[in-house]
Amino acid sequence: MSIHISAKKGDIADTVLLPGDPLRAKAIADTFLENAVCYNEIRGMLGYTGEFNGKRVSVQGSGMGMPSLSIYVNELVGLGAKRLIRVGTCGAYQPFLKLGDIVIAVSASTDSNINNTAFDHLNFAPTASFNLLLGAYQEAQNRSLEVHVGPIFSSDIFYQDDPDHFRKWANYGILAVEMETAALYALAAKHKAEALTILTVSDSLVTGEVASHQDREKNFLKMTELALSQI
Ligand code: HPA
Repeated sequence: MSIHISAKKGDIADTVLLPGDPLRAKAIADTFLENAVCYNEIRGMLGYTGEFNGKRVSVQGSGMGMPSLSIYVNELVGLGAKRLIRVGTCGAYQPFLKLGDIVIAVSASTDSNINNTAFDHLNFAPTASFNLLLGAYQEAQNRSLEVHVGPIFSSDIFYQDDPDHFRKWANYGILAVEMETAALYALAAKHKAEALTILTVSDSLVTGEVASHQDREKNFLKMTELALSQI
């Protein structure tokens, strides 16, 4: 047992999908998994293990932001997880990204100090697992999905004071913003696990557009199917 996950070794599959929202973990289990067992309800942060196409997989809510995700990732690797695939939403920083497009994150710049603290204020470059990234990209192409592969920004701040804050990052090629991946990639590296973040665009900092709740859910499930193809 770990502090925030009421599972023991063997309860968690080698591959874990990590949505931020625990209700999305439930939706993934209900929609895609066979023989799903809920192994965690602590703090409402639902976790399930089941089968997809005969392969064992877990899906664990991570919560929002790097401190929350870090707690779950540390405990999951302690319970034996070897591949961690975050499935989430992002805000577009580039005009060519449309609502519902898929972003696969090569790397994650950040305004967070979470990794700098661990590295005594030197900079670590959080990077995706190449094998997972290549597999997800090729499968996205096979499925004719609108997919963009590149760097993202993991922020501690959802509501920035300056509405133009994103432009600096956009000028350096950052595709989109979310709030977890810089910590996920660093922790995966530390624990010799593989990690990948796959996101669907839910809003645009460039145009101010926001996807409807229905479209968000539809796009989220389409992206999750792509993630499940990699287990
Ligand atoms: N900012 C930060 N995180 C996000 C956003 C955003 O606009 N959209 C989805 N996750």
